Amino acid sequence: MLRLMTDVSHQTLTKRYDRAAGVWGDKMRTLGYYDAYLGFLSSPVSRPEGMARVVDIGCGSGAFAEAWVAIHGQQTALTLLDPSGPMLSRATAALAGRGVAAETAEARLDTYTPGAPFDHLLAAHVIEHCPDPEAALAQMRALTHPDGRLWLVASKPHWCNAIIWLQWRHRTFQSEEIAALLSTSGWELESDYAFPAGPPSRTSRGYLARAV
Ligand SMILES: C[S@@+](CC[C@H](N)C(=O)[O-])C[C@H]1O[C@@H](n2cnc3c(N)ncnc32)[C@H](O)[C@@H]1O
Repeated sequence: MLRLMTDVSHQTLTKRYDRAAGVWGDKMRTLGYYDAYLGFLSSPVSRPEGMARVVDIGCGSGAFAEAWVAIHGQQTALTLLDPSGPMLSRATAALAGRGVAAETAEARLDTYTPGAPFDHLLAAHVIEHCPDPEAALAQMRALTHPDGRLWLVASKPHWCNAIIWLQWRHRTFQSEEIAALLSTSGWELESDYAFPAGPPSRTSRGYLARAV
């Protein structure tokens, strides 16, 4: 794991994401991340019954939440969580375009308290920015109930991430590290998912975990 992002404060990082918000959504689609998220969320798992409560943590411009709605439909009580206001605006508009009126929370994971537990947590490329990833996974665990699911996407070691790090100072994780972090933070790893092609296959990996 790279432990080299500590000099980037929360405020500096959020300002960087504020500035990136205008182009983030197009970039995610062009580089294949939206399709990658669709593939991950389509992997076999029991479909949510009724109105599932779902939160996208570090939603950015909403690509992961959009993929969720594309797979599971509009029967979703969706919350978008991100400290960047401009990112949240893009995400809200993207979800509105899919017929979902999402709640928003302009906050960091560690400062967020929901009104009620969620059934599914989406978290793509966000624990990379959390100073203590184990604490972040425990904070995510506190947002759900036993049997709730975490759909986690995390960066992995690859030279592509060395280049991306120059801009974002993010961490990367071996899959064994993620498995260990999940098991000490109240989660049981159910499966992991290798993105099949393009930049996502080089930069990232998906993990589905169940709250215990
Ligand atoms: C790499 S982007 C990923 C965005 C989106 N999940 C995606 O896959 O396109 C990271 C996002 O996490 C947000 N973020 C950073 N630190 C966070 C924290 N501690 N809690 C919640 N969100 C955070 C950033 O503002 C940014 O929008």
